[in-house]
Amino acid sequence: MERIAVYPGSFDPVTNGHLDIVRRGLKLFDRVVVAILVNPKKQFLFPLEERLDMLRVCLQDFKGAEVDAADGLLVDYAARHGATAILRGLRTLSDYDYEVQMALFNRRLDPRVETVFVVASPEHAATNSGLVKEVSALGRDVSAFVTEPVRVALERAFRRRAGK
Ligand code: PNS
Repeated sequence: MERIAVYPGSFDPVTNGHLDIVRRGLKLFDRVVVAILVNPKKQFLFPLEERLDMLRVCLQDFKGAEVDAADGLLVDYAARHGATAILRGLRTLSDYDYEVQMALFNRRLDPRVETVFVVASPEHAATNSGLVKEVSALGRDVSAFVTEPVRVALERAFRRRAGK
């Protein structure tokens, strides 16, 4: 039987840290479905289609990775796709509270789906989409944290915002 995991997130935008988690996840699962789901607590810089495009480009050489987007509950999405696991990355201690709360909540919603945490490699421990956007908006090069197409998209988005 195929082992399928869903790796859910906002991916606004996808960072090298996310790609590291997918790479690690693919050692554990036959397929990793990278799914953009709705986080009502966040406001996004990139529209859904652009976030999907960036994921597709970044993951084109990752055998076993798929990209998708959906509304609704993560556990329902996982069940629809035959996934037995939710894959999430852990970086620092500050991730822990949020991640464990979501994992426990998801388990209450559907005990058949297990959350599997993968620890990011140290060079990605400080990478998060929010900080990448903040630094890019202030004109610093973020190519240490994101792939080239994402760096270009960030610079374009902030130029657009500044009306340049
Ligand atoms: O990258 P993020 O923003 O931390 O990802 C959060 C996300 C999208 C995984 C979470 O908000 C989510 O699962 N949204 C789907 C709706 C849902 O199932 N909510 C209950 C979570 S316990």
